[in-house]
Amino acid sequence: MVTIKSKKEIELMREACRVTALTHKAIEEAIKPGMTTADLDRIAEETMKKYGAISAEKGYDPGIKGVPKYPAATCISVNDEVIHGIPSNKRYIKDGDIVSVDLVALKDGFNGDAARTYMVGNVSKEAKRLIEVTRQAFFEGIKFAKKGNRIGDVSHAIGEYVKSQGFSVVREFEGHGIGRNMHEEPEIPNYGKAGRGIRLEPGMTLAIEPMVIQGKPDILQLDDGWTIITEDGSLAAHYENTILITENEPEVLTIL
Ligand code: MF3
Ligand code: CO
Repeated sequence: MVTIKSKKEIELMREACRVTALTHKAIEEAIKPGMTTADLDRIAEETMKKYGAISAEKGYDPGIKGVPKYPAATCISVNDEVIHGIPSNKRYIKDGDIVSVDLVALKDGFNGDAARTYMVGNVSKEAKRLIEVTRQAFFEGIKFAKKGNRIGDVSHAIGEYVKSQGFSVVREFEGHGIGRNMHEEPEIPNYGKAGRGIRLEPGMTLAIEPMVIQGKPDILQLDDGWTIITEDGSLAAHYENTILITENEPEVLTIL
């Protein structure tokens, strides 16, 4: 069932999403070569705490047999890592890296989910373009995130835009509804047919999250049970915001 948030619940969503955005701001200001991904994870956790939130990712149980609970406060995926990279004090960030940080602040019972791919130092032109296309794919998608439209309209717009730029979307992972739970219905693929899926209604809160690969769309999972990498070793980027469907244009809740 897709939940429609009440006025009160929307205010709580706004606040959780504000903390998510502030946490990204802290990471954006801190990230530099020589840091480890565990350093960034610590900064994220401290920032959430400062604003009265905790990480919804830490201890998250996907409910899949054999997959351990998620051990860190954030997901940090470097270069050919697509999503769900586990922060580590052995993983140093270096000049030229692209670093995807996906985090979910949980405050007063509600979740705010957002991801960004950060450029560290001198990044290649193609990596920059990949990051920009991934971000733009989100904005192409939400042009259709309006009352009366269908989820498929959003998915289709994202997928077609990415294809038009010569990159690939990940097919195995999707955006999602969000609220009291980090993952709620509906599922929101980054590709699909326009005119399909449920109709959007005011009060729905959705996490829209294009995951884009420079080369082939195929992915692999590492033995840690979490980290997703590109099969062909090419770069990947991620851009995600939590949005609110309204009577008019959607509101992006995780941008300050
Ligand atoms: N934040 C991710 C998403 O965008 C989910 C992370 S999985 C977790 O949906 F285990 F880290 F929580
Ligand atoms: Co998400």
